[in-house]
Amino acid sequence: MAKVISGFSKLSKQEKIDWLAKNFFNNQNEIIETIQQYWNADEGLQRLHDDFIENTITNFYMPYGIAPNFIINGKEHVIPMVVEESSVVAAASLVAKFWSTRGGFKTEVISTTKIGHVHFMFEGDKKDLFNYFEEQKPKLREATSSITKNMEKRGGGILDIVLVDKTEQLENYYQLHVTFETKDSMGANFINSCLEAMANQFRRDDIEIVMSILSNYVPECLVRAEVSCKVEDLGGENPEKFAKKFEQAVKIAEIEPYRAVTHNKGIMNGIDAVVLATGNDFRAIEAGVHAYASKNGSYSSLSHCEVKDGIFRFWIELPLALGTVGGLTALHPMAKLSLDMMGRPSAPELMEIMATAGLAQNFAALRALTTKGIQHGHMKMHLMNILNQMGATSEEKELISKEFENKTVSHSGVVEALENLRKKV
Ligand code: MEV
Repeated sequence: MAKVISGFSKLSKQEKIDWLAKNFFNNQNEIIETIQQYWNADEGLQRLHDDFIENTITNFYMPYGIAPNFIINGKEHVIPMVVEESSVVAAASLVAKFWSTRGGFKTEVISTTKIGHVHFMFEGDKKDLFNYFEEQKPKLREATSSITKNMEKRGGGILDIVLVDKTEQLENYYQLHVTFETKDSMGANFINSCLEAMANQFRRDDIEIVMSILSNYVPECLVRAEVSCKVEDLGGENPEKFAKKFEQAVKIAEIEPYRAVTHNKGIMNGIDAVVLATGNDFRAIEAGVHAYASKNGSYSSLSHCEVKDGIFRFWIELPLALGTVGGLTALHPMAKLSLDMMGRPSAPELMEIMATAGLAQNFAALRALTTKGIQHGHMKMHLMNILNQMGATSEEKELISKEFENKTVSHSGVVEALENLRKKV
């Protein structure tokens, strides 16, 4: 109980660190040193990061890589990726190059509508509620006018407000189902502010507002990315066999949830990396994407494949509610740099780039899985991590990498090789 503390957020950063080190670690000096090692030398920059959240004590580094050679709708792109998994950027780069000579990626934004709800309870006469709603509808819009003014100037705003009767699923439960266009902003604050203003306007003695909140399920904020080529252009020893096996792997993910989850995780390796690099909300994206993957009642693949009349076609369709203005996109210098690198895309353009990154990642995983197996490439990329963990010198790294050039990497194999090398020396 001694570890329960009041007023923690009011302590200075150093006091917070000291409290943490004293109460949760034995090696206090070492812990404090590690925490401080990750502070940014530029005080202004550090303060900026400190203020993103409460109780910041240090920074947590993630590698920031770039994947070049992406051709999307005929235009070259370099895609920034923030991810810790060793093979992700390499896979994206390889696949980008592969498709760059086969027509590149074709993308299309299908819709950009976002959704929010005022959830409420009402015990009275349904007809009376529906009449009240019709009378209130223009007033609900009016109540948000100061919030929507700027968004409307940018071509966005509230699209529609519908009263939905949910009483069959939950007694007395209704909702105002509100649709929004938020242009280049992700729109979470805008949507929530509008919903709260509407809820206040809609309030009546017999209406109990439970909550007002956007939905991260955005099945009408959809993007599609596709690659296609003649089967014979897929290359390799037997392109027909490769195409067939690849298609089978996708079909398995379409009907088998155990496989679909891992298949989609591979897609999210690519998408989340760009989401992070651009300062977008990866929790929102993940929640929305996986809900969409279950839209037909069973969790399924987000990507699809068809091999027909000698043509290989591979595509993905998924919801992505993103922002390229506002939020962290403007505040975090690296998020800004990522967007600049991609030519300051609009939110729909960023949806297309991310869908491409997801499809590329999925192609890389399925190509590896249906040919050499995943561990071959994965462990090769992981080799450096193992060597770093063992404190290998640059010379040792070079020699061991050479040794494993044509050998399957395993943790014990690398440990043994390094030990042997050290013995020889
Ligand atoms: C690993 O991070 C991702 C994969 O498991 C994806 C897949 O199995 O498709 C390789």
